[in-house]
Amino acid sequence: MTNDGANDGPKGLGGGLTNYGDPDFSIYLRRSFASSMGYSREMLARPVIGITDTTSGFNNCHRQVPELIEAVKRGVLAAGGLPLVFPTISLGETYLNPTSLMFRNLMSMDTEEMIRAQPMDAVVLIGGCDKTAPAQLMGAASADVPAIYLLVGPMMTSRYKDDRLGACTDCRRYWGEFRGGRIDEPEIRKIEMGLATTAGTCAVMGTASTMACITETLGMALPGTAAIPSVHADRLRAAEASGAQAMALANGGPRPSELITEASVENALRVLLALGGSTNGIIHLAAIAGRRGITVSLERMNTLSDETPVLVNLKPSGDHYMEDFFAAGGLGAVLRELKPLLHLDCMTVTGETLGARLAGDEGAWVDREIVRAFDAPYEPVGGLVALFGSLAPGGAILKRSAADPTLFEREGRAVVFTSLEDLSARIDDPDLDVTADDILVLQNAGPRSPSAMPEAGYLPIPKKLAQAGVKDMVRISDARMSGTAFGTIVLHVTPDAASGGALALVRDGDRIRLSVADKSLDLLVDEAELDRRRAELPPAPPVPSRGYAKLYNEQVLQADQGCDFAFLAGVPGP
Ligand code: FES
Repeated sequence: MTNDGANDGPKGLGGGLTNYGDPDFSIYLRRSFASSMGYSREMLARPVIGITDTTSGFNNCHRQVPELIEAVKRGVLAAGGLPLVFPTISLGETYLNPTSLMFRNLMSMDTEEMIRAQPMDAVVLIGGCDKTAPAQLMGAASADVPAIYLLVGPMMTSRYKDDRLGACTDCRRYWGEFRGGRIDEPEIRKIEMGLATTAGTCAVMGTASTMACITETLGMALPGTAAIPSVHADRLRAAEASGAQAMALANGGPRPSELITEASVENALRVLLALGGSTNGIIHLAAIAGRRGITVSLERMNTLSDETPVLVNLKPSGDHYMEDFFAAGGLGAVLRELKPLLHLDCMTVTGETLGARLAGDEGAWVDREIVRAFDAPYEPVGGLVALFGSLAPGGAILKRSAADPTLFEREGRAVVFTSLEDLSARIDDPDLDVTADDILVLQNAGPRSPSAMPEAGYLPIPKKLAQAGVKDMVRISDARMSGTAFGTIVLHVTPDAASGGALALVRDGDRIRLSVADKSLDLLVDEAELDRRRAELPPAPPVPSRGYAKLYNEQVLQADQGCDFAFLAGVPGP
């Protein structure tokens, strides 16, 4: 048995042999060691389906992965395969320092290399917490072994008094109430225990749910599976079906390179816009597409955004939660509304096209409170818009569907924080010179900063303004924002301040102009003054001397290129 040729059918344990200079010895040795796990000779001759195990004590969102793995195995075994589970890194969003994004590329490398290095005819990727789906899709896109994605699914909501609680839009809403002095310490502690109460990913259309829908739209997950709640029995049935489908893939189904195409990426972009999805989605989609040599253009996104309405009424842009979205018809209902705008000839992991899939769903029930019709949308234009101008030559992102439209056309005075440390030291200072009409600016929180692009773009409203009832202000940074957050928040300013971008040149009192209508973001300071400030910029902080931090610092690309590593982007060579 050899591992050459892409279409020779399943190779099972004979694939990708360890090289001792004698292939027959290699397979003999491998079978000997595999036999020590108690498999029969017949089982060892079956096609091998790898299953990623991303269980971790540091990842609450994945706490049901062991149960899902058992269901996937059932599907593989029933279809005649040998399921072999292997661990990879897991990224629990709230447990990682400095940010989970910094380690997304590490997880993508782990996933890619373990898929490629180990003998598997197809792989079932299981994940969903925030950076895990992007990481695994990036790795699978590069490895290009037949792959199917099984999402862990969203959390259920819980109750607090007469309110519903779901991570993590409500986390921020109640924290804002606490900061504004409208609820006290004992009450916020009670709320803290009720925000995340089941397995699964955040309960709103945050980054995890956005990426789940993007995964299904790309054709990498089974139809109808993106929104199934984590604890629902349908999730286990989806796991069993994913195992069975992996066997079909092993026997010649489409590879990631046949699913992640320019057309399917554009479909995913449409869906991102129609969902009012997370701003992180554009970074991750750019990184996934980049692994197949596909560029996601922010200018193109603006064109699509102007013709793609927001169709779902889900938090943080709207009122409802992911469990409601599932009950309302899920992603399929959105895709059917977008049908005239989609490339229907895109292939999916089932081997049928998107068009064939949607034709099969025609007439399915939809709750119009949650998934609106195309001609009666929730918002007339897409959720995200890219801004360009002297402050962001490479672009910046605003989630207009989660922002206050009264702040969209605004010129204001900059109040600048030079780092996260500066922000936390001064934002609540009663003597801070700030009014509600000012524009808060945070520097040095981009991909090349030591803080590695945290979700810190949701700058808190200064306490004295929050206590006076101010709920939103224009905030600008090179940071990201949680997909569960809301506000008039301009993010991903490119190039970032740590690379010497214009953001690094803003000073207190400068005038900044934002125009969502013109899709522009400008620093109203003359060039001579900017040149003078540029010459005075402090030297870049020292590069870490070793390890992953050094690799990250040397290789990370800007937000418009998905923050991938330069040496990982693009289609792998022979
Ligand atoms: Fe895991 Fe939000 S913390 S998806």
